[in-house]
Amino acid sequence: MPNAPIFPDSFLWGAATSAYQIEGSPLADGAGASIWHRFSRSPGLTANGDTGDVACDHYRRWRGDIALMRELGLNAYRFSIAWGRILPSGTGAVNERGLDFYRQLVDGLLEAGITPNATLYHWDLPEALDNRGGWLNRDIADWFADYARVMFRALGDRIPMWSTLNEPWVVTDGGYLHGALAPGHRNLFEAPIATHNLMRAHGAAVQAYRSEAKQAIGLVVNLEPKYPASERDDDLAAARRADAYMNRQYLDAACLGSYPEELRDIFGDAWPEPSAADMALIKQPIDFIGINYYTRNVTEHWPLALPLRWRGVRQPQATYTETGWEVHAPSLTRILLWVKERYGNQPLYVTENGAAFYDPPKAIDGRIDDPLRVDYYREHLRAVAEAMRGGADVRGYYAWSLLDNFEWSLGYSKRFGIIHVDYETQQRTVKASGRFYADVIRTQGELLQKQDRNGFA
Ligand code: BGC
Repeated sequence: MPNAPIFPDSFLWGAATSAYQIEGSPLADGAGASIWHRFSRSPGLTANGDTGDVACDHYRRWRGDIALMRELGLNAYRFSIAWGRILPSGTGAVNERGLDFYRQLVDGLLEAGITPNATLYHWDLPEALDNRGGWLNRDIADWFADYARVMFRALGDRIPMWSTLNEPWVVTDGGYLHGALAPGHRNLFEAPIATHNLMRAHGAAVQAYRSEAKQAIGLVVNLEPKYPASERDDDLAAARRADAYMNRQYLDAACLGSYPEELRDIFGDAWPEPSAADMALIKQPIDFIGINYYTRNVTEHWPLALPLRWRGVRQPQATYTETGWEVHAPSLTRILLWVKERYGNQPLYVTENGAAFYDPPKAIDGRIDDPLRVDYYREHLRAVAEAMRGGADVRGYYAWSLLDNFEWSLGYSKRFGIIHVDYETQQRTVKASGRFYADVIRTQGELLQKQDRNGFA
């Protein structure tokens, strides 16, 4: 059936955001500060000293943002909940006013026919918990499960899809090993401890979900195929290390109940042998895997880059985004099929995919033309379809991001949105990529079959 629709009617066409990146008003209505609030105020840690104090002012403009989602035809929206709005001290008393924000948002989405998909942790740990050791403190598994339980009780009936963590790899690598992200530590010994506690927290929250709510919960990871730069043994081993560290570390733990062997080699004395009881807690059945995909990596052995001993090799023929990431859509197909092979055929969602390309600070004649981003979406959506043809059970796709937003330590210098934000006025403008995505949604993906690589029908 050559013309059979690739994307079923039930397919979720979404866009994604996260709390600290878009909400603004970080301390409003009794919220407790997060590590990002503190990190972004520390001199020199973010580009231009940017903070999330205002961001996209979504905390006050969410109604308009839902209207824009409708205009694009989205039927799904992935957002995250700021732990510190719910529990200002991280544990203990619940802040009803913080909960109300998400209650209203979710009701607004449901009224608009948009399926909410909530992430419990997208990097904004309450500062009060960081002061108690944060992800290095084993108690955090209970703290997280308690917070999760509050959310499941409040909104478990109205939010059909939950994720425990967004990209635990980034939390550890950026927050505890290389220090570019909050809380900004650089410590070989801390990194595996943080990883392990993140995963224990994930397991504990999934357990809490099973006793409180009945729809779907999963884990969101960022994956990046690693291609050895040559057939030399040291490059092959480097690619295996890179793959273990980024792609298998979290999914092996969650789905197979073990960490990849290579981690012992990478961390050496800093590797704490986990107990069987911890691994049993981590390996909870989950209902889906969320995959964030941005780029691939061609990997070569590089002994100076400790502890991983590899570096990426730039591809002279490729397009690179503003964040220096190679555009490589076939790797999205590859990674989706790899997940299916390695972890079994379970529901998959592409929970983030997108690109930072330059856009001007203000719309020009009311328009933002972003042809490179249009190409990016066309090719990556085709790559998703290709994986589905190959048997991957992909049930939805979320563009990153709905709005230009606070790109962590890069501040507002990089724009990922399918909707442009003029940060001076908070004016939103749907970019050409947003209109393209809306057309793909309207035609249920048929547009992707009609256009060639250059966008001609
Ligand atoms: C994160 C987002 C981030 C995006 C682009 C993902 O790693 O989940 O928060 O903005 O990539 O860097």
